[in-house]
Amino acid sequence: MRAEFIEALGKAADLQELSKEELVVLIDADKEESAALFSLADQVRQQFMGDEVHIRGIIEFSNHCTKNCLYCGLRRDNRQLSRYRMTISEILESAHKAAGLGCRTIVLQSGEDSYYTADILADTVYLLKKEMDVAVTLSIGDRLREEYQKMREAGADRYLLKHETCDAELFAGLRPGTSLADRVNRLKWLGELGFQVGSGNMVGLPGQTVETLAGDILLMRETGVEMAGIGPFVPNSQTPLGECPGGTLALTLKTLAAARLALPRAHMPATTATGTIDRRGRDKALRCGANVIMPNMTPPAYRASYQIYPGKTGLSDTPEESYARAMKIVENAGRRVGTGYGHSPDYCTI
Ligand code: 5AD
Ligand code: SF4
Repeated sequence: MRAEFIEALGKAADLQELSKEELVVLIDADKEESAALFSLADQVRQQFMGDEVHIRGIIEFSNHCTKNCLYCGLRRDNRQLSRYRMTISEILESAHKAAGLGCRTIVLQSGEDSYYTADILADTVYLLKKEMDVAVTLSIGDRLREEYQKMREAGADRYLLKHETCDAELFAGLRPGTSLADRVNRLKWLGELGFQVGSGNMVGLPGQTVETLAGDILLMRETGVEMAGIGPFVPNSQTPLGECPGGTLALTLKTLAAARLALPRAHMPATTATGTIDRRGRDKALRCGANVIMPNMTPPAYRASYQIYPGKTGLSDTPEESYARAMKIVENAGRRVGTGYGHSPDYCTI
């Protein structure tokens, strides 16, 4: 093992704040170093977050999107995708099913679809919270501050808005018409409005370096996010980046482990994308820092159309099967299912 790796890992073990250079050294780990990195990340996860894995049932309620991100299958210009929108009663029905199975958090995710006004979404959140004993997370992209506020007042607990990459130039190139500064500003708004805030990034984007990944982690530390979703970029042939190589499992897991050391109290999912590039990807992620899993609760009829990237795991599964699969992964990893809402440890409900 490299001397600088041993030093950086030692600092992390002593819970000292890691610099960008140290994060680069950690993410650059070779095979032997990776084993040590994963083991410490697992230990830090255990110490700060315990052995519970929180289950968040995700409902992908619309695949319409007005944005045109170069990496994503839901992009506006993708004419090969058949588009759908779930009705409010379909969303509630799916949520009831998820809650009945045992999900204590419901995540409502969609492309950026203004068909669902803030009032409609606020009503949906309100009904969801009234009818079920669940926490609600929204993941619906850019909205006005007033809209976020309306949804928060209706009872939404958390908001996911990934920064995707901390490289401002790369961000602007991959997400036409938007900027990293705007995204970071939204994360600030969401925090001010009292949401538990989640961000995250993709690993293996074209033009990204190890320094970028270290910067992604630092950005999340600086913005004080309570959730960090890290997954590989998976090329989609229906997008302009279809021919680019995707992110590897090894680099994804090293980034996740380094993120756990820098953000010991953050909730981190074993992402679906990680499970897509490797059959045991989510299991492995739970062993190097992750403590959340997000079974897909979208009705089977719509699943294949929520094709952000190809080969998404569980496309033909029912919600029951997706839930059972998540249970199995938790069990295989020697962990137990969270019994509470799985709020951020820093979150105060009073
Ligand atoms: N590969 C992996 N993840 C992707 N996302 C979008 N496109 C891809 C892709 N090709 C992720 C982004 C976004 C979420 C909706 O899906 O991180 O936040
Ligand atoms: Fe739309 Fe989000 Fe996909 Fe961009 S990443 S095209 S905003 S769904």
